Amino acid sequence: MEKTILQHEISKLRSRQAQWEPFAWYKEMRENSPVYYDTEQGVWNVFLYEHAKRVLFDHQLFSNKKERSLIPVPRNDNRSNVNSSDPPEHRKRRALLAKAFTPRNLKEWEPRIQAIVDELLTDMEGRETVDIVKELAIPLPVTVIAELLGVPSKDRSQIKFWSDILFLPYAKDAYHDIAERKAQTMEDFCEYLYPIVQEKRKHPADDILSDLIQAELEGERLNDKEVVLNGIGLLGAGNETTTMLLSNMFYSMLVDQPGVYRELRADMSLVPQLTEEVLRYRFPAAIDRKVAQDTDIFGHTMKKGQMVVAWIGAANRDESQFHDAEEFDIHRPGNHKHLAFGAGPHFCLGAPLARKEANIALTTFVKRFADIGLVEGFEVTEHLVDSAVGQSLKSFPVRVERA
Ligand code: HEM
Repeated sequence: MEKTILQHEISKLRSRQAQWEPFAWYKEMRENSPVYYDTEQGVWNVFLYEHAKRVLFDHQLFSNKKERSLIPVPRNDNRSNVNSSDPPEHRKRRALLAKAFTPRNLKEWEPRIQAIVDELLTDMEGRETVDIVKELAIPLPVTVIAELLGVPSKDRSQIKFWSDILFLPYAKDAYHDIAERKAQTMEDFCEYLYPIVQEKRKHPADDILSDLIQAELEGERLNDKEVVLNGIGLLGAGNETTTMLLSNMFYSMLVDQPGVYRELRADMSLVPQLTEEVLRYRFPAAIDRKVAQDTDIFGHTMKKGQMVVAWIGAANRDESQFHDAEEFDIHRPGNHKHLAFGAGPHFCLGAPLARKEANIALTTFVKRFADIGLVEGFEVTEHLVDSAVGQSLKSFPVRVERA
């Protein structure tokens, strides 16, 4: 338990509704305790945009080599792990994956993403109500990332099942049970991927796993275990977060700014702006780092070895950066300055892919459906699930009108 930072123990937001909408607490913290030390969890917390950005950029002061973390996925310490490292070592590890996420590759993947979206939306045709989470937001990212890695997409339910467990938040009272489930899942996931990696070593294909097999780190190829762990990292990273983005886009269109859907129908070039505003407005994430040296900063003294949590969702509503920050506004200039994909050396490698998936999905949806509406009696709290990156929707029934 001492290795894990329990996010909800810091915010003390207990009810599902409060965890889904932590924004009033964020505001209170920004205004009254922008730099706050939580004695129970033993971590510093920062809520302002400039502070969060500094924590993410300044790797000499705020290291990603840490013994404790908010991330609920079991640790995978190996020499190729991109996450728990700092520059310059981090640059070499990141380069392994960065080759896969070039703009050229992204362009090549576009028709594959479009085909998956088309298939999912065709299955929705002729119906009055569809479940946006179960029928689009869950299957799209897991199918895309499985295909790109070169893992059979027919196994997507199994992959999704495993990554849900790996991302399950730890709870104080059920810590050991959850840890055991995660360890078992990690074993099962590795066992599943090993033979796939071994096969690709013999017969490389045009996919990310094959690229990783052939990549070199400090003059040496990665071994099977390192390829498997990187594969699990990508299968997880590309999944839960993008599902949350897609679900929240529909929630924002129906709840945060009803009517915006019609605006998109009239001008589909606005779709990327909507995606960006959802990332700014409705993405309650937090990122952790370790203080690398004693320092006086943000008006406080931080000690080497202490942890710092940058509350990204709070920073993204900081009035000093975003005018009328509590308003959802797709026309906001500069909404792309949000920190939902992080910032600095660890900036999300998959951001262009996530944006592409979201924009293709919504543009295609808007072309096919004339309007959308909330189903009668919809209560968000009945549709929430716990998730490592904040509360998210496990289902979202929506009324649709054919174009
Ligand atoms: C809406 C979707 C996504 C969000 C909000 C998101 C968010 C983030 C954030 C905040 C970080 C930085 C973590 C830190 O600084 O410690 C990150 C890193 C990363 N993300 Fe994403 N992500 C998304 C989608 C994806 C996808 C689709 C992939 C790949 C398939 C991906 C792969 C990665 C990788 C490999 C890193 C580590 C980069 C590094 O440490 O250098 N992400 N992501």
